[in-house]
Amino acid sequence: TSPLRLGIAGLGTVGAGVVKIVRQKAELLSHRTGRGIEIVAVSARNRDKDRGVSLQPFDWEDDPVALASRDDVDVLVELIGGSDGPAKAATEAALKRGKDVVTANKAMLAHHGQALAELAETNGAALRFEAAVAGGIPVVKALTEGLAGNEITRVMGVMNGTCNYILTRMESGGLTYQEAFDEADGLGFLEADPELDVGGIDAGHKLSLLSSIAFGTQVAFDAVELEGIGRVSIDDIRQAADMGFKIKLLGTCRMTGRGLEQRMAPCLVPERSALGQLDGGTNMVVIEGDQVGQIVLRGAGAGEGPTASAVMGDVIDIARGYRGSTFGQAASSLKPATPAKSATP
Ligand code: HSE
Repeated sequence: TSPLRLGIAGLGTVGAGVVKIVRQKAELLSHRTGRGIEIVAVSARNRDKDRGVSLQPFDWEDDPVALASRDDVDVLVELIGGSDGPAKAATEAALKRGKDVVTANKAMLAHHGQALAELAETNGAALRFEAAVAGGIPVVKALTEGLAGNEITRVMGVMNGTCNYILTRMESGGLTYQEAFDEADGLGFLEADPELDVGGIDAGHKLSLLSSIAFGTQVAFDAVELEGIGRVSIDDIRQAADMGFKIKLLGTCRMTGRGLEQRMAPCLVPERSALGQLDGGTNMVVIEGDQVGQIVLRGAGAGEGPTASAVMGDVIDIARGYRGSTFGQAASSLKPATPAKSATP
């Protein structure tokens, strides 16, 4: 078989990380896939930026839709970001031509996941998004594959590294919200629009994707009860600490008798619990299944290496001929989510 040919749209932190892996680990990828993986073309806003890796051998496309439509591209790797615009246009162009898409775009899938998964299915294409949720933690694979024999009873976790970093630094470093925010910015955790992070929206996007897989429901981001960390004060954090708790931006989803409950909000967690000990820009996802019991996954939720690792996991699956289904079952068989609000006082 000939090598799997990638077109990469978007060359920010994650895109550069993917290019490095493909270029620097060709032999490993060839052994693991039996056919090898190569990049044929790339596209990004700025052609001349120094990304720490040469783009010399690749064709350049100014328009990501043109990239996605090339006959010599087997897989579009969409790393542009944003729920609509060029990311969605390129994804649709690829899927319509029956090309597989690997994306890290949680916003796009939270808003259009159902339609895109159906488009993929209609055209016999794969649409995979491990990198969209919790960066390097293979939680999508865990839910769709390793735990597929379970009825999932609950998924919860810390899914935004920026918020966890800010809360941690306020708590342990005595920093103000703004100082902690600036530090997180310096580490490259933030979204282009930081309100996506601190408003809990980014984490809500991720939770809505995990809910869909866990409960076989259509993605229902609008039904996520959402509250960010903007109103958490140093005093809240100190009072919680006095009683043995930490404040985390915690996401929870579970199926109740009234429907699917999805909640992303600052919560008290016991200091000594796994979640309570999750400091800094790390992510943690806790999955509970009726057979397996509780599983805890912890790791980097952002950054070049971890997110590129997740992208490559999907690319390698496709190179091996394993296509999977976007949300762990046929998109057409996902049930509409009946939203249940959590009990409010
Ligand atoms: N801004 C996100 C975070 C990046 O802080 O977790 C990864 O999605």
